[in-house]
Amino acid sequence: MGKKIKIIHVVGARPNFMKVAPLIKELSQDSQTNNLLVHTGQHYDQKMSAVFFEELALPEPDINLEVGSGSHAEQTAQIMLHFEPVLLEYRPDWVVVYGDVNSTLACTLVASKLQVQVAHVEAGVRSFDRSMPEEINRILTDAISDLLFTPAREANYNLQREGIIEEKIHFVGNIMVDTLLTSIEKAGNRQAWQRWNLAPQSYAVLTLHRVSNVDETNTFRDLLSAIEDISKWLPVIFPIHPRTAKRLAEFGLSELLQRSSGLVLVEPLGYMDFLSLISQAKFVLTDSGSLQAETTMLSIPCLTMRTNTEWNVTVDQGSNYMVGTNKQEIIHQARAIMDGAGKHWSIPELWDGKTAQRITQVLLNQG
Ligand code: UD1
Repeated sequence: MGKKIKIIHVVGARPNFMKVAPLIKELSQDSQTNNLLVHTGQHYDQKMSAVFFEELALPEPDINLEVGSGSHAEQTAQIMLHFEPVLLEYRPDWVVVYGDVNSTLACTLVASKLQVQVAHVEAGVRSFDRSMPEEINRILTDAISDLLFTPAREANYNLQREGIIEEKIHFVGNIMVDTLLTSIEKAGNRQAWQRWNLAPQSYAVLTLHRVSNVDETNTFRDLLSAIEDISKWLPVIFPIHPRTAKRLAEFGLSELLQRSSGLVLVEPLGYMDFLSLISQAKFVLTDSGSLQAETTMLSIPCLTMRTNTEWNVTVDQGSNYMVGTNKQEIIHQARAIMDGAGKHWSIPELWDGKTAQRITQVLLNQG
């Protein structure tokens, strides 16, 4: 038997955990690879990190860089400084990075300069909005990665337009779907809605944490005001992200929420509870990227409160509606969904739960 392929998987923030889980499981079943899991510590609260490791049966991180929060420059630099010695010591054949968070870019930069090959899972997605920190992370990560695993065909076109050679690009489907499909039954059994004495299809779910929405007082106020109106029609469950909680307090917007009795603020939820909750929602209101994909898989209408999306396939084929950040437009679309309006939805190509298998095949064939 030849030498084992040494792989370091890098995760840091909440949306990375459901992406690494199926791939590390698939690769670990193969005796040709040695897998090391590095957590940068970008997210560190129990509810933002540890709960996902438990629920997704992820192995404990082999190494936690414990970098914590900071400005973009601070956080990115800290991750780089702490990751370099790990790479020098372990000398892997591959570093696998996920998604578009600061940890993704920081570790890609370090690996690439040490001439360690990088594979990017969820490559090629673009919002074409460079004011989004995630868009910068995506473009730069893709530009210097050696293997690019794309979740949708449009991502291949985006990469080709940026001059990336065809041989590096592999259309493998959406890895989050692997996790969703293996978890949906277990999640459904939880009936999370009962915790708030709700019945299926009788409530909406809200998430909000995008910098462009919650770091701008006026936009944040307008969005909350739209939600306040919607919460008069049906209860809106709002698991609140730490960034959003901080801004609410800073901007003095908490009282706006207190007067909306239909709006139910809750702590961030674990993967299973959240999946359970959205799977029976009347609709979801969000600015998250992952949630646009998850709702499409579940055929739950998703009202995305942004002016652009990196998940066009969920608008073209799935259950996603771009409603922008204008109060009237959000209310109008929510009303239409309440009244039964809907478009024809389908599941995008290769969102079939076999993405980790396809990535494994490509990685093992690299020689
Ligand atoms: C990050 C990602 C974003 C992703 C989101 C998912 C980047 C640039 N952004 O944004 O793409 O959608 O994660 O959640 O990487 N905080 C805590 N506890 C934690 C983590 C953060 O309280 O465990 C607070 C801190 O005050 C911190 C703030 O949240 O300053 C923001 O955290 P950060 O990781 O910088 O960005 P997110 O907004 O979470």
